[in-house]
Amino acid sequence: MPESTTDTNRAMWRLMTAFRQSRSLGVAVELGIAERMVEPRTARELATECGVHERSLLRLLRLLVAMEVASEDASGRFQLTALGEELGGDRLGPLVLYFCSKHDWSSWMHFDHSIKTGERAFDYVHGMRNWEYYATHPDDAAIFDAAMRALTGPVSVAVAEKYDFSPLSKVADVGGGDGTMLMAILKRHQSVRGVLLDRPDVVKRARLRFEEARLIDRCDLVGGSFFEEVPPGADAYLMKSILHDWEDEEAVAILERCRHAAGDRGARLLVVERVMPERVGPDDIDALLSDLNMLVNPGGRERTVSEYSRLFEKARFKLEGTIPLDPQFAIFEGSSI
Ligand SMILES: C[S@@+](CC[C@H](N)C(=O)[O-])C[C@H]1O[C@@H](n2cnc3c(N)ncnc32)[C@H](O)[C@@H]1O
Repeated sequence: MPESTTDTNRAMWRLMTAFRQSRSLGVAVELGIAERMVEPRTARELATECGVHERSLLRLLRLLVAMEVASEDASGRFQLTALGEELGGDRLGPLVLYFCSKHDWSSWMHFDHSIKTGERAFDYVHGMRNWEYYATHPDDAAIFDAAMRALTGPVSVAVAEKYDFSPLSKVADVGGGDGTMLMAILKRHQSVRGVLLDRPDVVKRARLRFEEARLIDRCDLVGGSFFEEVPPGADAYLMKSILHDWEDEEAVAILERCRHAAGDRGARLLVVERVMPERVGPDDIDALLSDLNMLVNPGGRERTVSEYSRLFEKARFKLEGTIPLDPQFAIFEGSSI
């Protein structure tokens, strides 16, 4: 916590110019600069390899050094630090590309619209909901898919490890995206079969990944809408980062479709989401930023445990408990009532 006026002034400078640092990371990843700095490289080498303006690049590289993302050695060669390695394609690089993508950046430019009206800035800017937009803009959909994969990958491994799927024969991932979560479960639990429901355009892309992973024989891929029908017959209905995309009324409607599909089989409900604390502190910035991102983009919200419990009850599920996955995510486990 800054103590003197000088400290508070400096801290505020960091906060108010933070978007310039984000954008600098975005440019470093977009132009392939970051990935080349796994090995030490001079600005000249990087400029030639990336086809960019050497003197301007040098200015960016010096900022990256000050941000402790890269280091510079005595002969002017730049290399990623341990922090900078997080920018890798198999780590947080795809999320940097999404946060700096023009379609996401432009909705955040109109964040004020959401605060003034409570409406989605995304629709205000793009003239349609994000899911329709992705169905018609494949390049941006690929950026979104890759970011979700980077976010969901580590959570999926934790879900597959921490939850005992072994007594279950069939698990349905409702709004399962490109299948990252379901594939992690199927790989770890050989006796489980999967069902993936998502929008038809998303399922088409997911199919290729299941084929590549040779898991297509153990998974049914269903293109449809979770507002219309959720496939019946599963022992567990799993949803990761779905309910937070929607306001309460729509979230309950999705849960009701799951409850209908669960029928009298006693199927479990497994909701994987961030946990919003009742009282927030500095450690909760990621959950709070995600909450505002839900307001700006899909039009939903992050929720506390008691808020999830109330949603579950409205759809005739009982929240049995939560299984923490890391400081941010948890499995909210429900049973049919
Ligand atoms: C935030 S993503 C989460 C994807 C995945 N569960 C994950 O965590 O990686 C939300 C998903 O909901 C899907 N979705 C949106 N509207 C839908 C609908 N009406 N029916 C089925 N899926 C939908 C989107 O296509 C997207 O894949």
